[in-house]
Amino acid sequence: MKRIKIEGGKILSGTINISGAKNSAVALIPAAILSDEEVVIDNVPTISDIDALQEILEYLGASIKKEGSKMIINATSIQNKEIPEAVSRKLRASYYFMSSLLGKYKYVEMYFPGGCSIGARPIDQTLKGYRALGATVIEKENKFTIYADELVGSEIYLDMPSVGATVNVMLAAVKAKGETIIENAAREPEIVNVATFLNSMGAKITGAGTSSIHIDGVSYLGKAFTEVIPDRIEAGTYIIAGALIGNKLKINNIIPEHIDSLLQKLIEVGCDIEITPSSVIISQVKNGKAINVKTLGYPGFPTDLQQPLSTLLTQLNGESILEETIYENRFQNIEYLVNMGADIQIDGNKIQVKGPTPLVGKTVVATDLRAGACLVLAGLKANGETIIENIEHVLRGYEDIVGKLSKIGAKIELEEYN
Ligand code: EPU
Repeated sequence: MKRIKIEGGKILSGTINISGAKNSAVALIPAAILSDEEVVIDNVPTISDIDALQEILEYLGASIKKEGSKMIINATSIQNKEIPEAVSRKLRASYYFMSSLLGKYKYVEMYFPGGCSIGARPIDQTLKGYRALGATVIEKENKFTIYADELVGSEIYLDMPSVGATVNVMLAAVKAKGETIIENAAREPEIVNVATFLNSMGAKITGAGTSSIHIDGVSYLGKAFTEVIPDRIEAGTYIIAGALIGNKLKINNIIPEHIDSLLQKLIEVGCDIEITPSSVIISQVKNGKAINVKTLGYPGFPTDLQQPLSTLLTQLNGESILEETIYENRFQNIEYLVNMGADIQIDGNKIQVKGPTPLVGKTVVATDLRAGACLVLAGLKANGETIIENIEHVLRGYEDIVGKLSKIGAKIELEEYN
């Protein structure tokens, strides 16, 4: 197993370059198999979630070439095989293959996907979408068998703007007969990235980025190129690091508009932020004001930044309230923050954070990806040594976190342990 060791209190300065977005890349790769020609995805991050998807691609028989951060995929001669459960369970995004295979072959067998254990995370909206397109869904224990003679466009209203269901319905409907409309669609930038890629293959999707997406089914998808958008959550995590312990820390290669909800909150705290079209420069906030934050779908405050933000809240003057509205179990980081010196009460889906409280280094555990990011931030700020165990969760989603943080002045090491 792997853990990260951090000697806290080092000022972070210089430039950190943001990688391609995990949550885009993990949808673009399964989308690639819908094409009957070679496709190129550039700016793919080097993270373990991508390795897991590559394993699935190879298992299905796709040819993959890598040139730097470019992934060149040719799925012309793949086989529609059942993906082993152990592989599906490695990550949430494995179920995007379920939709691409269904869209391409009108038949798929697949197991329930994995992902961070931050809530129940049902997939009922995706299944509702498949059924609306005319598919039969047979669910037996953990396994789904889904098939249709023909997929036919339909109007699908999502009960909540689910990112996964929106992507899944787009993938399944892109080659369906006629028009599909997804109402109450998620509006995350990652959805736009996927729709743009599919359109570059020849799909006819409009409205991505709004809550109403129209898909005119096409019969053939071909050559395509796309670039993964910058990772807004990775960017947000390092911006929070800058607010905690930065000195003119530049977070580069970002789309600031994608993290406007975070930047507005940091301005409310009193952070001095310089925003350029592709970067943010931020320093440690002095006498920062407590804030209230509620997580929402895009363009609201992202749930994925809620845990990293909680570390900053411990350093603000007064009581902050953070409300999580997306997941039922996304406060597993709090017991460790408290152990490091934070004053935090959990009250249902809210936490009350009283600050400022000094943080001290401890041995803690990353229970999920963003909980791990929260604890890395706490370790960077804390006095003394912090050891974060189970760091594999973090390596799933943050490219070269140790290298990037070392380059801007952190004292951080990755090591093996038993
Ligand atoms: N939901 C349902 N039924 C469904 C689908 C969703 O009840 O059929 C509920 C979920 O349980 C959750 C809410 O709706 O309470 C939102 O879920 P959504 O489907 O939007 O999330 P997701 O697609 O599973 C993606 C990201 C998550 C991110 C969320 C919200 C990927 C691979 N994952 O998950 O990322 O938190 O959207 O923005 O894109 C992370 O990166 O740390 C992460 C967990």
